[in-house]
Amino acid sequence: MITSNEIRQKFIEFFKEHWHSQIPSASVVPENDPTVLFTTAGMHPLVPYLLGERHPLWKRLVNYQKCVRTGDIDDVGDNSHLTFFEMLWNWSLWDFFKKESIKFSFELLTSSEYLWIDKNKLAVTVFAWDENAPRDEESSIIWQEQGMPKSRISYMSKKDNWWWPAWLTWPCGPDTEIFYRVWKEEFPPEWSNVETDEKNWMEIWNNVFMEYIKDENGKFNLASMQNVDTGMGLERITAVLNKKVTVYDTDIFSDILEVISQTLWKKYDEETKKSMRIIADHTRTSVIMISDWINPSNVDQGYVLRRLLRRAIREGYKLWNKWQFLTPIANKVISKFEWIYESVTKNKQLIIEEIEREEKQFLSTLENGLKEFEKAFLKPKYFMSCNYEDETFRKKLDDNNFEISKRWCAFSWKDMFKLYDTYGFPPEMTLELLREKFNIANSNWKDAILNEAFILDEYKDAFKKHQELSRAWAEQKFKWGLADDSEATTALHSATHIMLAWLRKVLWTHVHQAWSNITAERLRFDFTHPDKVTPEQLKAVEDYVNEAIKNECVMTLEEIKKVDAERDDTIEASFWEKYPEVVKVYTLKSPLWVVYSRELCWGPHVANTCSMWRFKIQKEEASSRWVRRIKAVLEK
Ligand code: ALA
Repeated sequence: MITSNEIRQKFIEFFKEHWHSQIPSASVVPENDPTVLFTTAGMHPLVPYLLGERHPLWKRLVNYQKCVRTGDIDDVGDNSHLTFFEMLWNWSLWDFFKKESIKFSFELLTSSEYLWIDKNKLAVTVFAWDENAPRDEESSIIWQEQGMPKSRISYMSKKDNWWWPAWLTWPCGPDTEIFYRVWKEEFPPEWSNVETDEKNWMEIWNNVFMEYIKDENGKFNLASMQNVDTGMGLERITAVLNKKVTVYDTDIFSDILEVISQTLWKKYDEETKKSMRIIADHTRTSVIMISDWINPSNVDQGYVLRRLLRRAIREGYKLWNKWQFLTPIANKVISKFEWIYESVTKNKQLIIEEIEREEKQFLSTLENGLKEFEKAFLKPKYFMSCNYEDETFRKKLDDNNFEISKRWCAFSWKDMFKLYDTYGFPPEMTLELLREKFNIANSNWKDAILNEAFILDEYKDAFKKHQELSRAWAEQKFKWGLADDSEATTALHSATHIMLAWLRKVLWTHVHQAWSNITAERLRFDFTHPDKVTPEQLKAVEDYVNEAIKNECVMTLEEIKKVDAERDDTIEASFWEKYPEVVKVYTLKSPLWVVYSRELCWGPHVANTCSMWRFKIQKEEASSRWVRRIKAVLEK
């Protein structure tokens, strides 16, 4: 048996031995990148460097990174899907390319000093060809040089062997993926490879050769530099190396599941396993999210956190638990992460407090909410008497007689709203309840419910609008923030620094940035502080920022060692662990050497504040219990 942490250590050690510098894991909330809610891949915080900016730690990097992906949330509970996972990454920033990258991977996987996998149990895929890029013969030849038989190399299309974060014009390129022979103990027959025998191979590692940039029109252009971005899922490789069919049977989950089983007084078996796995996964994700300053709320990241916690709570309820039960489970998760992530160690108390509060709040409405749901579901008089299974009957109702259909249908949008509003049921949870009622197994279940189970009423439009708004919001985000480095956005970013310096001076040092979202029009800044900021204090912030602007301050950039920066208490930074060994410090000084702000950051910033307009705060409000939000602009 090899534990997940042994694998983590071996991976880091191997790449350090090959001249890589270890960088820390970034927060799961992407910093200064409002295009997405969560960090979904390790390359995320590295985009500026993948685009050519010089990294303070040079050209070869390695780390493990916490990632959140919520796209597969409905599948959590099966053998492999998770909402939180850790990945092991390494990068080359315009240093080595395909040859070394493949050699490194092969050596780490097969060497007896490291993961010691029999090479006969490995297969790979490479990029086939399309109008944008040639067939990746080069990678194929390098694989063959390592001893990979030709028959185990499959050429696959862009859909399978090209990696890029789908939402942006970002660096991307063909990849080569490494697979391990699973399920069967014996060695695979010669004909078996990923193309011919997919179900018996599991992807364990992805090496992306980033030499393209996808432009706004969706065209792939050759970039000016060649980078490598590789990622190996820790949960998955741990399962594979221990010959487990599911990640839940590894050391990553087994003790968490044990605590769940003890707390709920239920055995972990066929009947309970799905619920227990959901509780385990969602608690892990929630612990990490709160440690990175997310609080349960009704918007953005906070909403996702709330949804996860409430779903976990209901899964507990399904197992006949009516009391708060998440604390011991969260404590177990904390104990596993605290030596790995400083953010978890530092926020232990906050994590437990937030989880307990959310659980208490939701438990106070859950039971009545479920009763309300049952009532709403059974409401129509004709529901029980009509034959729901009868297709023709249903069609007849739908096509010909809306009135009857209306009575036949059990549930309305209005009910969904009531459950959301009064009982705090996230709409996704209500849909899940309906899915269970209707016993719908297919993957399109949401559409099936939305199309078939709901009556048309005025709430449908309201709900649709709500969804459209969220979509518009998401699309807006796509364009917002420092992803655009226009002058206006840059100026607001510098204004944010000055404002934070004042907040920390006056409200005190518990103030940290929680989230920042900056467009060319305005800044929105969330920071940790429990009380309302008074109008006088807000006025003083404005004055401070405007004074800095009037004094034509100069922004200077230094690169210094993290250990030195840490000792220097004039420098503002939230979590030291997320910074590399050498950091960038931006200092804003007046010509008379008054320091207005001094902060760790990646930029970009104005060179001189004389290019900035007048700073004006438009609003100060609570974003959640611990976090306040300021909206401000620079106006002519
Ligand atoms: N960025 C690549 C991935 O996430 C390595 O698969």
